[in-house]
Amino acid sequence: MPKARLIDGKLAAEEIRGQTAAAAQRILAERGFPPGLAVIILGEHAASRAYVRTKTRMAAAAGFLSRQFDLPRETSESELLALIDKLNRTPEIDGIMVQLHLPPQVRTAAVIEAIAPEKDVDGFHAVNGGRLLAASPGQQSAGFVPCTPWGCQMLLRRELRNLAGREAVVVGRSNIVGKPMALLLLNENCTVTLAHSHTRELASVCRRADILVAAVGRPEFVRGDWVKQGAIVLDVGINRIAGEGGTSQLVGDVAFAEAVERAGAITPVPGGIGPMTVACLLANTALAACRRSSLELPAFALAPHADGPWA
Ligand code: GUN
Repeated sequence: MPKARLIDGKLAAEEIRGQTAAAAQRILAERGFPPGLAVIILGEHAASRAYVRTKTRMAAAAGFLSRQFDLPRETSESELLALIDKLNRTPEIDGIMVQLHLPPQVRTAAVIEAIAPEKDVDGFHAVNGGRLLAASPGQQSAGFVPCTPWGCQMLLRRELRNLAGREAVVVGRSNIVGKPMALLLLNENCTVTLAHSHTRELASVCRRADILVAAVGRPEFVRGDWVKQGAIVLDVGINRIAGEGGTSQLVGDVAFAEAVERAGAITPVPGGIGPMTVACLLANTALAACRRSSLELPAFALAPHADGPWA
């Protein structure tokens, strides 16, 4: 059997970033200032800092106003809420994202709910969650979709003409990935199973999947023999593990070397889903700018089916 085709998330993300850069130019021309993104991070966690720097740098490269707020780990909840309140009222800022996870003195739910829903480009606010839940099959959400599952949906659209009727299994039920991913797949007319730590016979549940999304945050948790022959496997995990000779290595939530022997197509780690998350953050920010300024929405917001109108 041939090995799985690799799904090039880097290439797809470059295309989307190109589209957002074009949208940014139009937004600047039409309203006099570009899309603005504010990224907030607390603490010194090296990997999170690097990740946030990438988001800020890519936003600037796409022609956005890009502002990064590096706050100390000891920042109080009220200080953080005061900054969010100020950014909510800053006209040049269209999108606000606070990098998770937050230190224990700050309640994550309070922070997420403090961001104005129309600037919540992470799509984590309950209003945006509700809008995704309320979208009918074939309709795009009227709010903001969380970036990682939206990136997964875009990659699936590139792989398959139409997702309707496919068996989709999502492993992991986080608010950031698993839950919104299941809703997006449902809206694509897939038959969806949302599996989690209490799911019985997980391996055989996964073997049903034409589309398998792994988002559990555990290195190489999904084994190769859980993958149906020819399935599309999206690996959302980014786990740093100890490699040989004191080095460290990035691995996903899927045992790649095993899964590549059975899948039809699979995302690598790195270079699969990760770049799509950043690209979708920029896409959401351009979308927020258009909505806030009543401008025509960018084409990527319309998410048409490969077949034409949504079925
Ligand atoms: N931490 C891990 N992924 C994400 C994300 O997509 N957004 C935010 N804000 N924090 C994260």
